[in-house]
Amino acid sequence: MHEHIKQRLDQIISNLTQLPSLPDIVSRIINMVNDPNVDFNLVASEISKDQAITANILKLCNSAYFSKGKEIASLDRAIVTLGLKEVKDMIVVATTKQVLDKTIMGYDLAKGELWKHNLAVAMLSKQIALDKKKKAAADIVFTGGIIHDVGKTVLALFVANTFKDILNYTIENQVSFNEAEREIMGYNHQEIGKKVLQKWKFPEVLQDVVEFHHTPSLAPEVNREVVSIVHVANAICLMAGVGIGGDGLYQELSQYAIEKTGLTESEIEKYYSNVPELLNQMKNIM
Ligand SMILES: [Fe+2]
Ligand SMILES: [Fe+2]
Repeated sequence: MHEHIKQRLDQIISNLTQLPSLPDIVSRIINMVNDPNVDFNLVASEISKDQAITANILKLCNSAYFSKGKEIASLDRAIVTLGLKEVKDMIVVATTKQVLDKTIMGYDLAKGELWKHNLAVAMLSKQIALDKKKKAAADIVFTGGIIHDVGKTVLALFVANTFKDILNYTIENQVSFNEAEREIMGYNHQEIGKKVLQKWKFPEVLQDVVEFHHTPSLAPEVNREVVSIVHVANAICLMAGVGIGGDGLYQELSQYAIEKTGLTESEIEKYYSNVPELLNQMKNIM
């Protein structure tokens, strides 16, 4: 264990200002949309206070992925035609990009790679949830997929300094990369990511996605299905080489998550061979 790194990380997570920030509007909208009795007009007026986000939504809602072939010229139309949950997903895309779209040193991810990985995991997670007729999960896993690896943005520099030790520990002890992260630095990217989400005031279910995306069977029972979907989507994207970085070969696909999602081997293969198509759809929302 590198004690000085652990101490530095203790400091970073206790002093929230050093963790990445998001505009407050994001958690406000996520929490509003979670409320089944939410007033559409209230959401629209909240969003329209932020011109940059509104402009981004209008751009995103005319992308092939979100538009579903409809042309949309206003925020109100977007909410009515596409629905609040879709608009919430667009806000998440528009605002998390600044946090996630950077070079992630220690994990060997060039600029754009983590962002691409997160978007792919988000889209694939939502696809799996919809195909499996899990509508409630589909509304959550897109956001979950986008932010699941956010802890890597904080750990990157520390991993860069200890990469050899982490990798050696992984190989010598036959454990996953993130178990070795904790052994060497005192924390893994899931734990740090959870702290980031707490700072952002994101709901518990999303905190669980971040904390347990590598160990879905350990998540609180109520959220295990959602966590499992993101876990499987993450594994498929890594197998397909999307954002694989320095740790990608040392992650496991949980049998528990496969059972929980109800996916068959041939379905998993189908999603895997569909990844290039997914990346194609992603182009105009990146
Ligand atoms: Fe991860
Ligand atoms: Fe990931």
